[in-house]
Amino acid sequence: RLPRLEKQNVKKTDTPRCINVAVVGLSGAEKEKGAVGIGKSCLCNRFMISSSDDFEDDHNSLLSNSDFSGRVVNNDNFLYWGEVMKTSEEGTEYIFRVIEQTEFIDDSTFQPFNGVKMDPYIKRCVATKIESAEKLMYICRSQLGVEEKFEQKVLPPGKFNIDGFLCVFDVSVVPGRSIEKQLETVTNILKNIKSTTKPVVLVTTKNDKLNEAYVQEVQKLVSRNEFKKAIPIVETSAYMNVNVDAAFIALAHIIDRFKGRTKIVPYLESVKNY
Ligand code: GTP
Ligand code: MG
Repeated sequence: RLPRLEKQNVKKTDTPRCINVAVVGLSGAEKEKGAVGIGKSCLCNRFMISSSDDFEDDHNSLLSNSDFSGRVVNNDNFLYWGEVMKTSEEGTEYIFRVIEQTEFIDDSTFQPFNGVKMDPYIKRCVATKIESAEKLMYICRSQLGVEEKFEQKVLPPGKFNIDGFLCVFDVSVVPGRSIEKQLETVTNILKNIKSTTKPVVLVTTKNDKLNEAYVQEVQKLVSRNEFKKAIPIVETSAYMNVNVDAAFIALAHIIDRFKGRTKIVPYLESVKNY
C-alpha cells in the first residue's frame, strides 16, 4: 500500500483550473425558436476568440447531411467550441472548455436530425457526461466539409464532465417566437439543471436591443421559489462584447465556491465603460 500523503505536504500547483461548461437554451426548428436563434453560438464565438476580427454572427444550425456527419458535428447535437484561458479579476487563471447544446436541422427536410430516437432537447441538454469520439472543435460554418484547412483540435477523449451550465435567455424580440414559449422552455431547462446539482448562471443575450418587459420577466423567473436560491443573471451582448467573459467567470466562481465578491455589472452600466 502506498503511504497516505499528508494534506499539508501536497504542493499547490500553479496549473490553471479547468472548467467544463455547457451553454444551453431554447433550440430547435423555426417553429420552436422563431426566425433566428437565441444567441448561444455568438456568445461562445465571442468568448473563444482572441481578436474581434474573428467574430462571426452566422452559425446557422441548418445543415446538409454530409456536414451533420462530418467530424465537427460528428452526428451529435452539440458543438465543441474548444478551450480558452481567462484570468479573473482576483487573478485566478481558468481554462474553460465549452460545449454548445443545440439542435441541428436537416436543410432538405427542415426537421431535426435523428428526431425520433432522441430525448427531447430540454432533457438532453443537461447531460453532465459528454462523449464523442474524435470530434473536432468547431470554428465557423465555412470550416464544415473542409476541416483539414482549419486548426484541428479534438474533444478530449473519454467522458467529458460538465461542471456547470450557462442557460441563455434572449431578451430581444424575435419574429415567430413568443416570450411565453421561451419562458416555458427555460423554466423546464432550469428545473432539469437543478436535478443535476451543477451550478448555473442565467445569461441574457442581445442586450444591445433588449425589450424591457422581457428583462423583467427574466428577473421574475430566477427568483421563483422552486429554484430556492435565486439564480444569478449576467446581461450580455456578443455583438458589443459586453459581459461575455463575466458570465463564464461568474459560473467558475460558483463552481469554485469563491469566497470573494463576484462583480456582476448590469448591461447598461457596462456598456457605458465600453
Ligand atoms: P441555434 O444554435 O441555431 O439554436 O441558435 P443560437 O442560439 O446558437 O443563436 P446564434 O448565436 O446563432 O444567433 C442567432 C442570431 O442572433 C445571429 O445570427 C445574430 O443575428 C443574432 N445575435 C446573436 N447575438 C447577438 C447580439 O449580441 N446582439 C444582437 N443584436 N443580435 C445577436
Ligand atoms: Mg448555435
